[in-house]
Amino acid sequence: MINMKKTWQQQWNVVYGVNKDPNREFLLFPLLLKTSLPIKGKSIIDLGCGNGSLIVKLLKYKPKEIYGLDSNDQFLKFAKNNISDKRVRFLKSDIRRRLPIRSRHFDMAYCTFVFNETNNLDSILKEVSRVLKRKGRFYLMTTHPFFPLNYFLYEKFTGKRNNKIRNVKGYFRNYKGGYILTMARRTTPFYNHRVEELINLMVKNGLIIREVRELSTNSKLLKACPIYAQLKDIPRVILISAEKA
Ligand SMILES: C[S@@+](CC[C@H](N)C(=O)[O-])C[C@H]1O[C@@H](n2cnc3c(N)ncnc32)[C@H](O)[C@@H]1O
Repeated sequence: MINMKKTWQQQWNVVYGVNKDPNREFLLFPLLLKTSLPIKGKSIIDLGCGNGSLIVKLLKYKPKEIYGLDSNDQFLKFAKNNISDKRVRFLKSDIRRRLPIRSRHFDMAYCTFVFNETNNLDSILKEVSRVLKRKGRFYLMTTHPFFPLNYFLYEKFTGKRNNKIRNVKGYFRNYKGGYILTMARRTTPFYNHRVEELINLMVKNGLIIREVRELSTNSKLLKACPIYAQLKDIPRVILISAEKA
């Protein structure tokens, strides 16, 4: 249950901190890392790096450098506490604006679970394209638009059932909502982005789609957290891999 004495970032860090989220540990990051090999010697940017949980994993693959960008001071503080490695630089930055980085600097860009918290995807993808080298790779991982995350989190944290999780009503509306649960009194913004919006904006910004994956569970996640069996027929996460033209 929610501890109201903690800030919402502390609360998030408890549930999704480095090596703590079974989804990232058993399903999402292993697939993301496997899909994005080779990583060795690459210059990498992680947009919306949060507490640095992906950067910790990426470092094991011997990249040349990693820039972690986030707009939130407290997440950047967690990230800096979690990681002290000369190859890593953290920058406070709103990724919807022009990034403080020269064009064609990076071989690879990652953005995981940020798009469902933000609008202006066109501006973000324009910048991703600008800072990537030609043939640079972009990996977008976000909540699948068929998965009503806001209702799921309500169930997860309150233990109360919410039958709205069974449908994808409102899919064609570009609505902005908030997680129904307010983490320590703060409502996290939730933006619904359709699959066609994600793909078309990537194409518009010169990113060639290489692969799309729709994920729900796998045997390792189910073993660690049997509760996910009830969600196995629902696409929960989408991974789009692209290459700068
Ligand atoms: C759900 S967390 C995901 C963090 C990390 N990528 C991960 O997968 O563990 C979303 C992160 O995106 C950041 N974020 C949201 N909107 C942003 C923006 N416009 N610019 C930069 N960071 C943003 C938040 O501060 C937060 O750290």
